[in-house]
Amino acid sequence: MQERLKEIEDRFKQELSEVSSLKELKDLKVRYLGKKGSISQLARQLGKIPPEDRPAMGEAINRLKRLAEEEIKASESRVKEIEERTALEREALDITLPGRPPSVGSLHPITLVMEEIEKIFVSFGFQVAEGPEIEVDYYNFEALNIPLDHPARDMQDTFYISEELLLRTHTSPVQMRIMEKYTPPIRIIAPGKVYRCDADVSHTPMFHQVEGLMVGDDVTFTQLKGLLEEFARRIFGETKVRFRPSFFPFTEPSAEMDIGCVICKGKGCRVCGHSGWLEILGCGMVDPALYRYAGSAYDPEKITGFAFGLGVERIAMLKYGINDIRLFYENDLGFLGQFAYER
Ligand code: PHE
Repeated sequence: MQERLKEIEDRFKQELSEVSSLKELKDLKVRYLGKKGSISQLARQLGKIPPEDRPAMGEAINRLKRLAEEEIKASESRVKEIEERTALEREALDITLPGRPPSVGSLHPITLVMEEIEKIFVSFGFQVAEGPEIEVDYYNFEALNIPLDHPARDMQDTFYISEELLLRTHTSPVQMRIMEKYTPPIRIIAPGKVYRCDADVSHTPMFHQVEGLMVGDDVTFTQLKGLLEEFARRIFGETKVRFRPSFFPFTEPSAEMDIGCVICKGKGCRVCGHSGWLEILGCGMVDPALYRYAGSAYDPEKITGFAFGLGVERIAMLKYGINDIRLFYENDLGFLGQFAYER
């Protein structure tokens, strides 16, 4: 029995030195000091040895029991430390690993061109105005001198919501909303979305326009031409421009402005229909008939004005050499990511 005691003590010390976690320490305690543990079992065998040896043996067993208890207690902090150290090692971050850069968004090319157009006109002294996309017939058509039987009112072009309500087909309704609200002089642009029932390589059901309106005492067609020529140069760089007579119910006289084809530089190609010219906007002198709707501050005998409306998608396509308008609305990040974000 003496030998067995020695053996247990040696094995206990050996095992204790190898313990590396609190769980292992707890198991060790159970294995030696638990009800069925080796020390307790040894104590139960005391009855089998000669009575005269029992007190000494009992004491030796008790000593071992106390020793085991003390040493286990003393090991706790050591084991805890080991456990913390291995946890730290396991969770360590390799800070030398190159990070994955978060992808940075870019502005939509239409937004970029809109902002550029706005900046140019703001630098000419224009203010930015807005109007609703859901419009009433009155502002979209009637107050713009567009008669009831005008083809633009046709169901094929206009998205009607009800007999009275529609999605505005152009930004021109903002002209009348502004004139009703403010007295001349007026110098505004109105950028925004417009809707037409139309879809092919150069038309989408929703697109963007920027409207312009300048009304005052001596507003002339010459000023309109000079302003739009300078605008074209700022957007496209050095370019030729020309004005062709045209017709709009709300301007008189009316014109369309062309720029020299940015693709073939005026030689003639598929994009410009071999004419060397590209149409970029409609414009004209505000038809005096409109002032009747605008209120008493607008005396057609005293004041004059001009208006223009340009298509943002068209300008963006020409500026960036894009041949299909639908690319703007397919949300292909490969396409959208190509447009540099500069401020
Ligand atoms: N509203 C016209 C269009 O959508 C453009 C335009 C605006 C023409 C202002 C003349 C004056 O085509």
